[in-house]
Amino acid sequence: MTIAATTTASQQPVIHPGAESGSSAPALVVEDLRKYYPVGGALFRKATSFIHAVDGVSFQVARGESLGLVGESGCGKTTTAKMLVKLIEPTDGKIVVRDRHEQMVDLATLGGRDTKLFRRSAQMIYQDPYESLNPRRTVFDTIAEPLVVQGIGSLHDRESRVGRMMSQVGLTPIGNYMFRFPHELSGGQRQRVAIARALILEPTLVVADEPTSMLDVSVRSNIMQLMLDMRERLNATFVYITHDVAVARYMCDRIAVMYLGKIIEIGRTEDILEHPIHPYTRALISAVPVPDPGFVRPKVDIKGGIARPVDPPKRCRFYDRCPLASKVCEDNDHPPLTPRDGDRLVACYNA
Ligand SMILES: Nc1ncnc2c1ncn2[C@@H]1O[C@H](COP(=O)(O)OP(=O)(O)OP(=O)(O)O)[C@@H](O)[C@H]1O
Ligand code: SF4
Ligand SMILES: [Mg+2]
Repeated sequence: MTIAATTTASQQPVIHPGAESGSSAPALVVEDLRKYYPVGGALFRKATSFIHAVDGVSFQVARGESLGLVGESGCGKTTTAKMLVKLIEPTDGKIVVRDRHEQMVDLATLGGRDTKLFRRSAQMIYQDPYESLNPRRTVFDTIAEPLVVQGIGSLHDRESRVGRMMSQVGLTPIGNYMFRFPHELSGGQRQRVAIARALILEPTLVVADEPTSMLDVSVRSNIMQLMLDMRERLNATFVYITHDVAVARYMCDRIAVMYLGKIIEIGRTEDILEHPIHPYTRALISAVPVPDPGFVRPKVDIKGGIARPVDPPKRCRFYDRCPLASKVCEDNDHPPLTPRDGDRLVACYNA
């Protein structure tokens, strides 16, 4: 992996983890992305405090690659996901996506019409298959909806595309499901419908936000395998969000670990799982069961729970919970991501 450095408006160097040398060109480039939400403002009073939901996140993902965004509740995973598909606007920073015509598109430059076209290239799969489907729409209407919105195909074409998509996601026999409503389906079947709807336009970028976390354990691995198959079929770039490291191990080529709005470690999945460097990553990984019963991984304890990042101090975000915290951490700003062994980046002064 090469690590490219550019500068932002504030002239801070930005490291781009994941710029693969020689292999596939990047399909998604995220630079110093931020989203701040005002707290406690009123009609005639401007907010003076802000939640730093996402606070200076940079990464790259290659075409066909899957990057996991991993971290505890509230660390900014969903906020990042929504910005990647332009469902919400960043406070600052840049997102560039390779579209279906191989053009690199800066999302900030897209107006209404271009945003609609961009939706052909980038789709999101949501956590809750109960909420994400309209209860009054049949399976056919739901999966065909993106084709209708984009004005693609005649009714006959749409029927055959929806039918093909249904068999690819395992909603067969097609005739049994085509005209059912969401309340007539199981959770796993609903998520298959949601995946079919997201993939029918053959997007080049898919952002999946904890798509199996609300499903029964018995259907989770089927849905994960389905997404792996579809990713290969479409050669799509995946950003896969999960708080579950075991899921990330199964689904992702690389993992970015987030903590209170920042990426604190990023690298290849097996490297991070076998040899986590950042103390927070070590604590996360130590909680995951190991397949080899003879291997006992030392448990790393961290104190306290994740806080809401309202006007966080400049020092390391993990300082209050960190077993390695020292004076250098207290006296300096949050550490930058720096290269470690192989192609890993870690944000820590002491690890
Ligand atoms: N619309 C909003 N207005 C105000 N604060 C928000 C908003 N959306 C998210 N936040 C806050 O931003 C932070 C990050 O939230 P986000 O939903 O991105 O976390 P997450 O990592 O997806 O968590 P989870 O694992 O629970 O889904 C949290 O502190 C959350 O309370
Ligand atoms: S920089 Fe200091 S406080 Fe932050 S994770 Fe590293 S050791 Fe802990
Ligand atoms: Mg979330």
